[in-house]
Amino acid sequence: MVDTKVTLCGIELDNPVIPASGTFGYGYEFAELYDINILGTFSFKGTTSEPRFGNPTPRIAECTAGMINSVGLQNPGVDKVISEELPKLRNCFHKKVMANVGGFSIDEYVKTASKLDNCDCVGWLEINISCPNVHGGGMSFGTSPLAAAEVTRAVKKAVKKPVIIKLSPNVTDIAAIAEACEGEGADGISLINTLLGMRINLRTRKPVIANRKGGFSGEAVFPVALRMVNDVAERVHIPVVGIGGVSSAENVLEMMMAGATAVEVGAANLINPYACRDIINDLPSAMEKYKINSLREIIGAING
Ligand code: SIN
Repeated sequence: MVDTKVTLCGIELDNPVIPASGTFGYGYEFAELYDINILGTFSFKGTTSEPRFGNPTPRIAECTAGMINSVGLQNPGVDKVISEELPKLRNCFHKKVMANVGGFSIDEYVKTASKLDNCDCVGWLEINISCPNVHGGGMSFGTSPLAAAEVTRAVKKAVKKPVIIKLSPNVTDIAAIAEACEGEGADGISLINTLLGMRINLRTRKPVIANRKGGFSGEAVFPVALRMVNDVAERVHIPVVGIGGVSSAENVLEMMMAGATAVEVGAANLINPYACRDIINDLPSAMEKYKINSLREIIGAING
């Protein structure tokens, strides 16, 4: 019997597979399809202090082996998430969940994170400083080591639960930003959020997406994400969560060998709602094929 367990910031997961924020709603929608308790955990839809309608449509553009989104952090706001979404989630998911927090100012990150920190079902706070689809917040905190450090410091001071900072790939040195977050007490780093991208409609001669540009994700980004996960894992001493184009059990193993302790699956859920279930089911046979007894032993294996 192979061992798929890993430990993320002090909490043991049955397996490292985590649906990424924005691709799995608040979980209960997927619980109609399969028992979501098989997941390691999942990261729920990015939540801000106030409700957000999101960006104008169209917000999605199809691409080869991927897609561009410009959703714009649409969500009902933290108070409604706590009063309406989390109770529904608790009925069908009995593990700790990862709360994904968006924001436009340090104060907003702190306020939203503090409220979610008080929820029993929340195990980790994933602070999104990397949304490419909003102005005046989101990615602007994730493109400077100083600003990333400032958010981390403020949130860490305000909460008790482990803080994982979600980073943008749209920078020159992502590992320097990860180090800045680690320096202010971040408990983990997750990466990558989407790569800035664009499509143009040849008939209208206009961008496909109303907001012109958006975040590119999907299988095509996997090698880029893997490289960045490795860059960060080699520079920090806290757990790294690998994200970007993961669509198979083999991709999970690669991410872990590059240095990830756990792995988020994003766009694949939008193509196949059973993607995470299938990856979890396939993990034991993939481990046997590559002679892996325990996933813990392969974290960062390429450097070993
Ligand atoms: C969005 O809501 O625009 C996507 C979230 C993100 O990329 O961080």
